[in-house]
Amino acid sequence: MSTAPLVAAVSNAGGLGVLGVGFAPDEFVKEQVEETRKSTDKPFGINTVLIPENLDRLTKLISEIKTPVIYADTLINVDEQICLHYFKLWHDAGCKIILKASTIADAIAAEKGGADLIIVKGWEGGGHTIVEATTVLVPQATDVLSVPVVASGGIADGRGFAAAIALGAEGIEMGTIFMAAEEASVHPNVKKALINAGDMSTVITGYSTDEPCCQIKNKLSDEMIEIEANNTKEVAAELLRTVAESSLKKAMIDGDMVEGAVMAGQIVPLITEIKSVESILSEVIEGAKVELVRASQFKF
Ligand SMILES: Cc1cc2nc3c(=O)[nH]c(=O)nc-3n(C[C@H](O)[C@H](O)[C@H](O)COP(=O)(O)O)c2cc1C
Repeated sequence: MSTAPLVAAVSNAGGLGVLGVGFAPDEFVKEQVEETRKSTDKPFGINTVLIPENLDRLTKLISEIKTPVIYADTLINVDEQICLHYFKLWHDAGCKIILKASTIADAIAAEKGGADLIIVKGWEGGGHTIVEATTVLVPQATDVLSVPVVASGGIADGRGFAAAIALGAEGIEMGTIFMAAEEASVHPNVKKALINAGDMSTVITGYSTDEPCCQIKNKLSDEMIEIEANNTKEVAAELLRTVAESSLKKAMIDGDMVEGAVMAGQIVPLITEIKSVESILSEVIEGAKVELVRASQFKF
């Protein structure tokens, strides 16, 4: 999904591209980093998930690949001590650290642990998600954090960007819209599904097993919901793992829109055509400028 061509295109267009290589084997990560470097001399990041079993391997890897940015996604209950330990090692390797949090407590722990920038992600966002909205998280985060705050979840145009600025954010993160970018390496069926999706097309599965994830409704998501409704947490977690196994690949690579997991956020109805990354970013920026002028003329 978020592989070298997309990541380089985002960085070249003035954003910060992030390789989605959270659980990928080292060789794949190295190859993707090398490919990205061939196409951009701008900063980019690699993604990890801030769970202890990931971090020693990653720390060893970054001493070799030395990407400018480490982008750490989190589940819940960010451990300040883990941050302090690993963030120092990553800083020593020359990396800037972005941490993505979905609760204010996690954002505070990450800042105390040394993160350089915090993304707060509301439940509108695609992929792994929790329960509070972007509009709720961003102003709280800007009130309590000293590091820059970036708004994420449910942003796909200039109106969303302008709203994030009004809430106090210093930048935005977008994920879902880039899946429909020309440079995204997902199966064409995925891009078609994004364009065809409307209001209420997405559903969050996995709340009952502490692995909430937003995806486009289909046979797979119906099955997952049924499993959650009819089983204890432990049994559901086990069954969901089996059902979900390789389901992301099924959708994104094989184009199976029925039994594959089409991860996408609630903002999907705003995606109406396939565009280049450069067009997406320039339209979002220019749109925000228009919206902020309009807001400045608002008659109270
Ligand atoms: C298909 C898809 C895959 C994603 N994979 C990852 C991932 O591997 N790691 C991660 O930190 N976030 C991942 N995300 C979440 C995005 O990084 C981002 O937080 C989110 O998409 C922002 O909200 P939006 O979808 O409303 O733009 C993914 C999102 C989507 C839609």
